[in-house]
Amino acid sequence: EKDKGLIRDSWESLGKNKVPHGIVMFTRLFELDPALLTLFSYSTNCGVAPECLSSPAFLEHVTKVMLVIDAAVSHLDDLHTLEDFLLNLGRKHQAVGVKTQSFTVVGESLLYMLQSSLGPAYTTPLRQAWLNMYSVVVSAMTRGWAK
Ligand code: HEM
Repeated sequence: EKDKGLIRDSWESLGKNKVPHGIVMFTRLFELDPALLTLFSYSTNCGVAPECLSSPAFLEHVTKVMLVIDAAVSHLDDLHTLEDFLLNLGRKHQAVGVKTQSFTVVGESLLYMLQSSLGPAYTTPLRQAWLNMYSVVVSAMTRGWAK
């Protein structure tokens, strides 16, 4: 319950500015693993990550990611209701060539974004609360890779 409060309170402000925070997250992601850029079919006519991230298709994906996080935060009390949606989302990512191992670096990028926007409010318990929620989301998505 304490976890949920930490997540809800921190998302309260972040969730109002989804796109800029999503850009911070994905800039970090492509910095940590530039090869992930190539999985986006529309990445061909942009050079490095910062350029790509300002293109409409990328901003759309960033927005979609933030909306999934938003849904998870709104469903902290009944995350299981998102299971089928997340399994299907995992399947779509398998189809575009994402490997489940990449979720580790996605998680690091999420924490990076939280840390850079929350500053001193980014505490160890808060980090752990987000990691716990993220791991529920990732395990549901990962089921999409099962045969
Ligand atoms: C769709 C790549 C992580 C949510 C897509 C698509 C690609 C892609 C290529 C299809 C094109 C598009 O819709 O833009 C990636 C890569 C990721 C990643 C390389 C990192 C390794 C995530 C995460 C989430 C997410 C963490 C949310 C938790 C979505 C959604 C769609 C999507 C909602 C639309 C699916 C649909 O069409 O129904 N992603 N993605 N993605 N992604 Fe990701």
